[in-house]
Amino acid sequence: MPKPDLKLLLERAKEAALGAYAPYSGYHVGAAIMTGEGEIFTGANIENASYSLTICAERTALFTAINQGKRDFVGIGIYVDSEENFPPCGACRQVLAEFAPNLPIIYGNRLSSTETDLAKLLPGAFNLKKNR
Ligand code: THU
Repeated sequence: MPKPDLKLLLERAKEAALGAYAPYSGYHVGAAIMTGEGEIFTGANIENASYSLTICAERTALFTAINQGKRDFVGIGIYVDSEENFPPCGACRQVLAEFAPNLPIIYGNRLSSTETDLAKLLPGAFNLKKNR
Protein backbone atom coordinates (compact mmCIF):
# COMPACT_ATOMS: atom_id res chain seq x y z
CA MET A 1 0.00 0.00 0.00
CA PRO A 2 1.58 3.35 -1.01
CA LYS A 3 1.94 5.65 1.99
CA PRO A 4 -0.35 8.63 1.47
CA ASP A 5 0.51 12.20 2.39
CA LEU A 6 -1.30 12.28 5.72
CA LYS A 7 -0.57 15.98 6.25
CA LEU A 8 -2.36 16.71 2.96
CA LEU A 9 -5.34 14.66 4.14
CA LEU A 10 -5.43 16.68 7.36
CA GLU A 11 -5.44 19.92 5.33
CA ARG A 12 -8.31 18.64 3.20
CA ALA A 13 -10.15 17.56 6.36
CA LYS A 14 -9.73 21.07 7.77
CA GLU A 15 -11.36 22.54 4.66
CA ALA A 16 -14.13 19.93 4.85
CA ALA A 17 -14.89 20.92 8.46
CA LEU A 18 -16.30 24.17 7.04
CA GLY A 19 -19.22 22.07 5.76
CA ALA A 20 -20.19 20.79 9.21
CA TYR A 21 -23.71 21.17 10.53
CA ALA A 22 -23.14 21.15 14.28
CA PRO A 23 -25.56 23.51 16.03
CA TYR A 24 -25.83 21.29 19.12
CA SER A 25 -22.27 20.33 20.03
CA GLY A 26 -20.48 23.19 18.30
CA TYR A 27 -17.74 20.77 17.18
CA HIS A 28 -17.02 21.25 13.49
CA VAL A 29 -15.35 18.08 12.25
CA GLY A 30 -14.05 17.30 8.75
CA ALA A 31 -12.65 14.13 7.22
CA ALA A 32 -10.79 13.37 3.99
CA ILE A 33 -10.27 9.79 2.84
CA MET A 34 -7.94 8.79 -0.01
CA THR A 35 -8.53 5.87 -2.37
CA GLY A 36 -5.82 3.59 -3.74
CA GLU A 37 -5.97 5.63 -6.95
CA GLY A 38 -5.21 8.84 -5.04
CA GLU A 39 -8.70 10.32 -5.19
CA ILE A 40 -9.86 12.18 -2.09
CA PHE A 41 -13.42 12.20 -0.77
CA THR A 42 -14.41 14.55 2.03
CA GLY A 43 -17.21 14.91 4.52
CA ALA A 44 -18.23 16.68 7.71
CA ASN A 45 -20.41 15.86 10.70
CA ILE A 46 -24.14 16.43 10.39
CA GLU A 47 -26.07 16.71 13.64
CA ASN A 48 -29.74 16.30 14.36
CA ALA A 49 -32.18 17.54 17.00
CA SER A 50 -32.68 13.86 17.81
CA TYR A 51 -29.02 13.69 18.86
CA SER A 52 -28.34 10.01 18.21
CA LEU A 53 -29.11 10.45 14.51
CA THR A 54 -25.98 12.54 14.10
CA ILE A 55 -23.44 11.25 11.58
CA CYS A 56 -19.71 11.77 12.06
CA ALA A 57 -17.41 13.34 9.51
CA GLU A 58 -15.53 10.09 8.91
CA ARG A 59 -18.63 8.17 7.92
CA THR A 60 -19.90 11.01 5.73
CA ALA A 61 -16.62 10.95 3.80
CA LEU A 62 -16.39 7.16 3.62
CA PHE A 63 -20.02 6.66 2.55
CA THR A 64 -19.65 9.27 -0.20
CA ALA A 65 -16.70 7.30 -1.57
CA ILE A 66 -18.48 3.96 -1.22
CA ASN A 67 -21.46 5.35 -3.12
CA GLN A 68 -19.07 6.26 -5.94
CA GLY A 69 -17.98 2.63 -6.19
CA LYS A 70 -14.71 3.00 -4.24
CA ARG A 71 -13.64 0.11 -2.01
CA ASP A 72 -9.91 0.55 -1.55
CA PHE A 73 -8.57 3.19 0.87
CA VAL A 74 -5.05 4.20 1.82
CA GLY A 75 -5.49 6.93 4.43
CA ILE A 76 -7.84 9.25 6.28
CA GLY A 77 -7.41 12.66 7.86
CA ILE A 78 -9.75 13.94 10.53
CA TYR A 79 -9.79 17.55 11.76
CA VAL A 80 -11.76 19.22 14.53
CA ASP A 81 -11.91 23.00 14.83
CA SER A 82 -11.17 22.87 18.55
CA GLU A 83 -8.29 22.64 20.99
CA GLU A 84 -9.54 19.27 22.23
CA ASN A 85 -8.14 15.90 21.25
CA PHE A 86 -10.50 14.15 18.81
CA PRO A 87 -9.59 10.59 17.81
CA PRO A 88 -12.25 8.82 15.69
CA CYS A 89 -15.20 7.42 17.66
CA GLY A 90 -15.78 3.69 18.11
CA ALA A 91 -18.61 3.53 15.58
CA CYS A 92 -16.44 5.11 12.88
CA ARG A 93 -13.56 2.77 13.69
CA GLN A 94 -15.81 -0.24 13.10
CA VAL A 95 -17.24 1.18 9.87
CA LEU A 96 -13.76 2.03 8.54
CA ALA A 97 -12.55 -1.49 9.48
CA GLU A 98 -15.11 -2.95 7.07
CA PHE A 99 -13.04 -1.63 4.17
CA ALA A 100 -9.55 -0.87 5.50
CA PRO A 101 -8.61 -2.61 8.76
CA ASN A 102 -5.04 -1.23 8.64
CA LEU A 103 -5.94 2.26 7.43
CA PRO A 104 -3.31 4.94 8.18
CA ILE A 105 -4.95 7.75 10.16
CA ILE A 106 -4.05 11.32 11.05
CA TYR A 107 -6.25 13.26 13.40
CA GLY A 108 -5.69 16.80 14.50
CA ASN A 109 -7.05 19.98 15.95
CA ARG A 110 -6.01 23.66 16.07
CA LEU A 111 -2.96 22.78 18.18
CA SER A 112 -1.50 19.46 17.08
CA SER A 113 -1.93 16.23 15.14
CA THR A 114 -1.36 12.52 15.73
CA GLU A 115 -0.51 9.80 13.21
CA THR A 116 -1.67 6.26 13.87
CA ASP A 117 -3.56 3.45 12.11
CA LEU A 118 -6.83 1.61 12.50
CA ALA A 119 -5.26 -1.69 13.61
CA LYS A 120 -3.87 0.18 16.64
CA LEU A 121 -7.12 2.02 17.38
CA LEU A 122 -9.36 -1.04 16.91
CA PRO A 123 -7.39 -4.22 17.64
CA GLY A 124 -9.31 -7.43 17.09
CA ALA A 125 -11.96 -5.75 14.96
CA PHE A 126 -15.07 -7.71 14.10
CA ASN A 127 -14.91 -8.50 10.37
CA LEU A 128 -16.53 -11.40 8.51
CA LYS A 129 -14.49 -10.86 5.35
CA LYS A 130 -11.61 -13.24 4.74
CA ASN A 131 -8.41 -12.70 2.74
CA ARG A 132 -8.18 -8.94 3.23
N1 THU B 1 -17.79 13.50 15.70
C1 THU B 1 -17.24 13.22 14.49
O1 THU B 1 -17.58 13.84 13.47
N2 THU B 1 -16.29 12.26 14.42
C2 THU B 1 -15.86 11.52 15.50
O2 THU B 1 -15.10 10.57 15.33
C3 THU B 1 -16.29 11.87 16.85
C4 THU B 1 -17.45 12.79 16.92
C5 THU B 1 -18.83 14.53 15.77
C6 THU B 1 -20.20 14.01 16.12
C7 THU B 1 -20.84 15.21 16.78
O3 THU B 1 -21.42 16.03 15.78
C8 THU B 1 -19.67 15.97 17.40
O4 THU B 1 -18.50 15.46 16.79
C9 THU B 1 -19.56 15.80 18.90
O5 THU B 1 -19.64 14.47 19.27
